[in-house]
Amino acid sequence: MKKLLIFVLLACVTLSCKQAPRQVAPSFEDVLSTRRSVRNYDASKTITEEEVRALLTATQEAPSWANVEPTKYYVAMGESNRAALLEMIGGNKERVCNAPVLIVSTFERGKSGFFRGQQTNEIGDGWGAYDNGLSNAYLILQARAMGFDTLIMGMRNADAIRAQFSIPDTETIMAVIALGYRAQEPNRPERRPLDDIVSFF
Ligand SMILES: Cc1cc2nc3c(=O)[nH]c(=O)nc-3n(C[C@H](O)[C@H](O)[C@H](O)COP(=O)(O)O)c2cc1C
Repeated sequence: MKKLLIFVLLACVTLSCKQAPRQVAPSFEDVLSTRRSVRNYDASKTITEEEVRALLTATQEAPSWANVEPTKYYVAMGESNRAALLEMIGGNKERVCNAPVLIVSTFERGKSGFFRGQQTNEIGDGWGAYDNGLSNAYLILQARAMGFDTLIMGMRNADAIRAQFSIPDTETIMAVIALGYRAQEPNRPERRPLDDIVSFF
């Protein structure tokens, strides 16, 4: 009886050790080096609204001018809206037609770069675009950390997108971002040498 008890105990310990392997978060270096613009998505894989919410929560940590948070996101993951948006991104359509989620990124004008309604310096609403890009950077890196892939698309029809998603005139439409899973390994495009882009004084 004692032997049987020890056997059962050992079996339980062994079984509990064989649970599904815990997902290990990728290192920041891995996120940076494996994040690529993906132009071919796996049509068999889906993404849930819960996952998109978790992803967008990361963008709330992005810095912005005076913390005004001008960036807004419009998520097209219902089939009819996704299909409509695919028609508004020109030649990008065939690159992202199998991405299960498309996200429109906008910013509210007159916030970043403004104080009491007055433009603070020569950049004006350019600071809104700046904050929007920062927010998008958080999005694409968090996406990679979650195992997803992305494509930022500046080639898009802003007027058609505004009408489709009832985006107010007070917002500037920036990129459409595809979200999904890579169907093949993307290449890493060459980068300029560091000394081309940095000056030390
Ligand atoms: C603002 C912006 C607009 C872009 N627009 C497009 C686009 O319309 N279509 C596309 O295929 N890639 C687009 N890209 C992706 C770039 O081509 C890509 O980031 C660049 O070649 C570097 O490759 P990587 O992202 O894999 O490092 C865009 C990227 C940015 C940041």
